[in-house]
Amino acid sequence: MQNSITWALKSISVTVFSLGILDVTGTVAAQQDDVAALVEKHGAEAIRMREHIHQNPELGNREFKTAELVAEHLTALGIDIRTGVAHTGVVGVLKGGRPGPVVAIRADMDALPVTEETVLPFRSTVRTTYLGKEVGVMHACGHDVHTAVQLGVASILADMRAELPGTVKFIFQPAEEGPPPGEEGGADLMVRENVLENPAPEAIFGLHALPSLEVGTVGYTIGPAMAAVDHFIIKVRGKQAHGARPEEGIDPVVMASEIVLALQTIRSRTLSPLEPSVVTVGIVRGGERFNIIPREVHLEGTVRTYNPEVRDTVERRMNVILEGITAAYGGAFALDYDRGTPSVINDPALSREMAGYLAEAPGIDSVLELPPTMGGEDFAYFSNEIPGFFYRLGVTKPGQPSGGLHTPTMTADSESVTVGMRAMTHLVLEFLGARAQPSVQPAQ
Ligand code: NI
Repeated sequence: MQNSITWALKSISVTVFSLGILDVTGTVAAQQDDVAALVEKHGAEAIRMREHIHQNPELGNREFKTAELVAEHLTALGIDIRTGVAHTGVVGVLKGGRPGPVVAIRADMDALPVTEETVLPFRSTVRTTYLGKEVGVMHACGHDVHTAVQLGVASILADMRAELPGTVKFIFQPAEEGPPPGEEGGADLMVRENVLENPAPEAIFGLHALPSLEVGTVGYTIGPAMAAVDHFIIKVRGKQAHGARPEEGIDPVVMASEIVLALQTIRSRTLSPLEPSVVTVGIVRGGERFNIIPREVHLEGTVRTYNPEVRDTVERRMNVILEGITAAYGGAFALDYDRGTPSVINDPALSREMAGYLAEAPGIDSVLELPPTMGGEDFAYFSNEIPGFFYRLGVTKPGQPSGGLHTPTMTADSESVTVGMRAMTHLVLEFLGARAQPSVQPAQ
């Protein structure tokens, strides 16, 4: 509703000030008409780049060729770039011909150690070594689409540079899925390497492929959108003994079994049922032989939360449960609790404004408000610093199967690239247009 009023005002301002002097909002309204033509002009190239990136995926902190492609494309568009940011990141700055604010858009470039099983003609057959094992590499999270969309948006906005009321910062990020063990990387490192300075953006936008949405559909969440991602490792220590002589040992398998069950009571008995949280033990490993009580059992898992106090409570309760159970059996434990990516909280005012623009964006079939998820995104490191809006891009062609994110059959339809270009270009132009000062004051 609010948005149709904005648009009505725009048409009025174009009419009122049409005597040779356009105000900024009128100019932006006119620009929006050009966007469709520019998506048409640059869409095929963006889709080709997407296919190339998909066929040549690279793992986090190893996005060398992808970064090279990005750098070459931006340079060819006359956009100033900084390379080697947070290892392989590329940051481009496009200064418009008219005064206005700075806005950033972010795309992640890394792929996953997954062996692709799609039938796409441009499927990946790349293999590499990860954690000492030979693995397939695949863009199973759609980051190929995100990168191509942002390259396409750069092409469009570079064409509109003279009329652009402000500056656009293009952030191409490595290692969103997390850097390899022992390395730093991702959004956290980009922020520490000052990507949000010189120039400092007022807001940042990012999008992510979502296979449960059809291509042509865009989804958004106002406020809490994605959860904080923590990782824990527990060593449960006992005393080794013959399997037939338990009285001579301290059994870590029994302790670990009680621990796994008791950890579930943090979620169900300590926290409010209305408080979003997950405690998952994903790995239980211990023992060498059926008739030996082992010395140690390894437990590993993830905790997802939104509220920092809930995060504290979960970690505190884990310690209490581990102390209690291991003490009762005479065993011991070590807990390594690693706080990872914080939760993505979309700035409420910015999100409402941007959701309105999305609803008006030409070429988008439907715009849905989505509930928060317990998945995580390191976009949070940017949106913790400046207001952020992270939204979802439908990638599934109706009637065609698409595997879920991080699976070997994850498939994003090519058309999602052009839909993403429309959505992101629209958001950038509306954001800048709504905040730009008129460069020429119309006579009253
Ligand atoms: Ni992803």
